[in-house]
Amino acid sequence: MTLRNGNRFGAYIIRYHIAQGGTGDVYCAEDTRDQQLVALKIPTTAARYDPRQYEFFLRELAALPLLDHPAIQHCREYDQVGAFPYLATTLIDGHALRRVLKEAGVLPITEAVAIVRAVAEGMAYCHAHGVIHRDLKPENILIGTNGQPVIIDFGLAIVVNRPTFGTPGGTPDYMSPEQVAGDPADRRVDIYALGVVLYELLTGRVPFTGADALTVMRARLHQPVPRADVLRPDVPLALTTVIARCLQIRPDRRYADMTALMAGLDQLDQVDTTALESLIVPPPKARFWQTPPGQALLTTAAFFVGIALVTLLLVALKH
Ligand SMILES: Nc1ncnc2c1ncn2[C@@H]1O[C@H](COP(=O)(O)OP(=O)(O)O)[C@@H](O)[C@H]1O
Ligand SMILES: [Mg+2]
Repeated sequence: MTLRNGNRFGAYIIRYHIAQGGTGDVYCAEDTRDQQLVALKIPTTAARYDPRQYEFFLRELAALPLLDHPAIQHCREYDQVGAFPYLATTLIDGHALRRVLKEAGVLPITEAVAIVRAVAEGMAYCHAHGVIHRDLKPENILIGTNGQPVIIDFGLAIVVNRPTFGTPGGTPDYMSPEQVAGDPADRRVDIYALGVVLYELLTGRVPFTGADALTVMRARLHQPVPRADVLRPDVPLALTTVIARCLQIRPDRRYADMTALMAGLDQLDQVDTTALESLIVPPPKARFWQTPPGQALLTTAAFFVGIALVTLLLVALKH
């Protein structure tokens, strides 16, 4: 649904269009009941009638009303006008962290740590309420004019112990190895993504890059975890270690929860930096039969064995 400035939508009057995302438009609108400005998210017409895209909208409606924390987008109301559901959240006066990073190139170390620490605190609250975000990235963190980071966009969120929609997902640059593999995600996928964000805020680039999404996703499975202090030598060893722990391929080698990550960031002088060497070792090499040529060979062999068996069976049946 496309709305123009001044259009009415239920109790709201559209003021201006903020953004068009993957599944919906976000408008700045006035709530005529209390004259407050809100961010109004409404699915596009295409998304409304495409079950896969509509699911993202429903996920957000399932997760956001459970949450009430200064670091999390605040749900004022969700309802429906005709066939169109909407989500009204408190309007955040500020900019996406992506824009802040673009303008600055890299952030001062203390600022990067403070932002990630505040996001981790918001995420600790989410996790305590059973919500896993699964799409943390600088686009989905707004920095208010008061400096407070606010986590937005729960379109990929899952609520633990609730029947959930099947779609795996994430954003290639920030996806954990288990999301890449399509394995079930727990709260440690958010720890991984936040490690990527911290690395990026400090160095200006994400830890794994490649020509396309598939190469980026494979890189994190097969390349060693990079040290943040290689690109930015003034990053303390302790902070390099904290990031490397977030970026572990195996979830059980990461911080167990956001509180442990926060403790690391709060007390860098207590971080065991001798662990760094073991955190950046290259992952074990794939065996030949796990590589693409190995897989091709296996498939071909299986094909010919299959044909031979069928032939044998036919011959046996004839006699
Ligand atoms: N509460 C809000 N206050 C201000 N801007 C918002 C708010 N919610 C969303 N936005 C803006 O709308 C954009 C898209 O919202 P988001 O929830 O991330 O949707 P999408 O699923 O399309 O990525 C954000 O990047 C942000 O610029
Ligand atoms: Mg978004």
